[in-house]
Amino acid sequence: MTFRKENILVVDDNNDMLDLIQRQLKSFNYRTYKASSVNEAIEVLKNSEIDLLISDLNMPNINGIELLKYTQEHYPAIPKLVISGIPSVYNIVNAMKSGALDYLTKPFTSEELHKAILDSLKKRIPASKSPDLSLELNNANAYGNLIGNSKQIKDLIETINRVKDTRATVLIEGESGTGKELIARAIHFTSKIADKPFIAVNCAGIPENLIESELFGHVKGSFTGATESRIGLFQAASGGTIFLDEIGDAPMSVQVKLLRVIQEKEILRVGATKPEKIDVRILSATNSNLEELVLKGLFREDLYYRINVINIKTTPLRDRKEDLQSLINLFIEKYSLEYKKANIQINDKAIEVLQRYSWPGNVRELENVIHRLVIMNDDNITLNHIPEHLKYHIPSSDTIFKSLKEYEKEQIIKVLTAVNNNKTKAAQILQIDRKTLNQKIL
Ligand SMILES: Nc1ncnc2c1ncn2[C@@H]1O[C@H](COP(=O)(O)OP(=O)(O)OP(=O)(O)O)[C@@H](O)[C@H]1O
Ligand SMILES: [Mg+2]
Repeated sequence: MTFRKENILVVDDNNDMLDLIQRQLKSFNYRTYKASSVNEAIEVLKNSEIDLLISDLNMPNINGIELLKYTQEHYPAIPKLVISGIPSVYNIVNAMKSGALDYLTKPFTSEELHKAILDSLKKRIPASKSPDLSLELNNANAYGNLIGNSKQIKDLIETINRVKDTRATVLIEGESGTGKELIARAIHFTSKIADKPFIAVNCAGIPENLIESELFGHVKGSFTGATESRIGLFQAASGGTIFLDEIGDAPMSVQVKLLRVIQEKEILRVGATKPEKIDVRILSATNSNLEELVLKGLFREDLYYRINVINIKTTPLRDRKEDLQSLINLFIEKYSLEYKKANIQINDKAIEVLQRYSWPGNVRELENVIHRLVIMNDDNITLNHIPEHLKYHIPSSDTIFKSLKEYEKEQIIKVLTAVNNNKTKAAQILQIDRKTLNQKIL
């Protein structure tokens, strides 16, 4: 018999079910492994090269969700397919949140199983050695999809590909919502250390008096409340990646210590006298202008150069509108799945309006808009469903180099805004008829 190259691990506490699925998989020429508990499954994952995990959810002792989470964390490249006897929305949403790509409700036909397998295998996250990262990242799933057709996204993916297996520090700069965290995750989860921890720290979110001990740990009795010795996030990330988000907000006292970590590759716990060696890759992100902070004396210049060996600047969404269509599709798919709405579509006129808007909140704003649209609709999303404030947004681009047409559009928008969107009034002021006005704003 010829085998396909994929190895599939099936996990179910019911042995009859396991046998049945194994028989079906064999009939499609897959290699199969089986486990009847989460612990058994983890052993198989550790000892074999698994390409796809198919798991039941309701199992005694440890629930299938835990297995999904474990796999997501340790083997993010393995796609996960859930088979469940109890199709509760809660279970399904939970499974999706834990990284499952799809679910099948028992009983299912052999064809349904095969289709779900082929779909899941298609969405596999890239193996780190793979040459064509862009193609695979397009299908990436587990830690958010970094997608887009623009030159900027292609360049970005190329950069990620070049730096992911180096030890160089990477500083990711850009506006809010442009995907900085997503990029950091992509660097880690496509690298050779993807199975090691990825720890994200929000430097703006930890009170100044705790941040040092959070990052570097402390020894027992070093301050009031330090009843036990504890390791910090740097040590927790050992062998993997630490992502210092909002690094511009790190207090000066912490900046000095970060510099030491990068230079000496060792940390000093709060209250300790002996430094400890660490091996962690450091990624940082900021949406403030670090260079300016350096000039103002609010950010150490030496640290700036140390964290900025590779610099990635994200592009605002308004400057790469070519990405909109695929992002819209991605979010529609994501939320349709989450809310179990199979028929959501968006028409061209609605997309045109979204194309014209300037997206000050970038991809995050787009995602929120689509999320709401999917909740509020069951099938076709049309122009009428698009929130008003997105329709008449004045683009904030260069004010001198504009075509007459752009000026015309701006003037129309200004008048419409001034008359509270009363089109009859606006048409009167602009001295055109209503029909022409309608054509011009569509
Ligand atoms: N290129 C992209 N493809 C798909 N999803 C994206 C892309 N860029 C951003 N997103 C999504 O947009 C949202 C915001 O991204 P992310 O949190 O990485 O932004 P950020 O730059 O870190 O923002 P902030 O500075 O506000 O923290 C996330 O849900 C992310 O998955
Ligand atoms: Mg962020």
